[in-house]
Amino acid sequence: MSVENAKGMLIKATQGKYAVGAFNVTDFVQMEGVIEAAVNKKAPLIIQTSVEPSKFYGRKMMVAAFRALAESAPIPICLHLDHCTDVDYCKKCADAGYTNIMIDASKFPFEENVRMSKEVVDYCHKVGDISVEAELGTVSGVEDQIKVVEDEAQLANPQQSVEFVERTGVDLFAPAIGTAHGVYTTKDPKVDFERMGKIAQLINGKGVRAPLIVHGGTGLPPQTVAKLIELGGAKLNVSTELKYTLIDTTFAYISEHRKEYNPGKINIAVKNAIREAAEKWIDMLGSAGKA
Ligand code: 13P
Repeated sequence: MSVENAKGMLIKATQGKYAVGAFNVTDFVQMEGVIEAAVNKKAPLIIQTSVEPSKFYGRKMMVAAFRALAESAPIPICLHLDHCTDVDYCKKCADAGYTNIMIDASKFPFEENVRMSKEVVDYCHKVGDISVEAELGTVSGVEDQIKVVEDEAQLANPQQSVEFVERTGVDLFAPAIGTAHGVYTTKDPKVDFERMGKIAQLINGKGVRAPLIVHGGTGLPPQTVAKLIELGGAKLNVSTELKYTLIDTTFAYISEHRKEYNPGKINIAVKNAIREAAEKWIDMLGSAGKA
């Protein structure tokens, strides 16, 4: 097993021009499904939980389950706290054993975002080998407790991105480039590739300083994904698709087996469907065989 923080695996991904799948899970069945996918594909893996599931199960329980499953998996795996707006909760999850923390202060003014992000970076680097992700600009849509309507979405300014990375010391940088959380309302979402390329060049052009993160994976067309990786995207987040997979698979299984009362069989159906969805993403991201 290899429980890791995300920075090392994402520097390798940036250099190798592939992206690591970062899959949001809400329970342990999904966690098993994404681990099975990554093991089958020999791919590095980032498991993410939003704040809500980490509070529902308790962060210590999340970490214990993650470590128990990761121990028997012959691939590098990271446990990431996604979109946490609360500095103190970020610190608690770092203490509990999450190996990557995202402080999301992107809805605050720039100076406040810098201050909050730096506080989490300083803490995580002090208490352990924990890497930190932060966001600049806002990604539209809904993720856990954070809602941003589309016309509020502001894309990351390239020069300000450099300043943000330098002043916070953040390990991983998530610039808002036009991708959105949730289901896209159009088949061809408007992604600002030029902005992504410029930010990648300014931050990572002379050696990888802070690998770039792409939020809003669900529904992105394969050619958009490929282009974002080519431009320097090293971690691609997928959440909504896995939630839909869990709910739709559960509904279909129960509908087809209305007289059966065996929850274990529902779990197996869900785990298999999650594994298939994650395997599809791993192939699309080019991370198969990179573990
Ligand atoms: P989707 O829900 O659109 O897949 O986005 C996931 C994400 O970016 C989580 O941080």
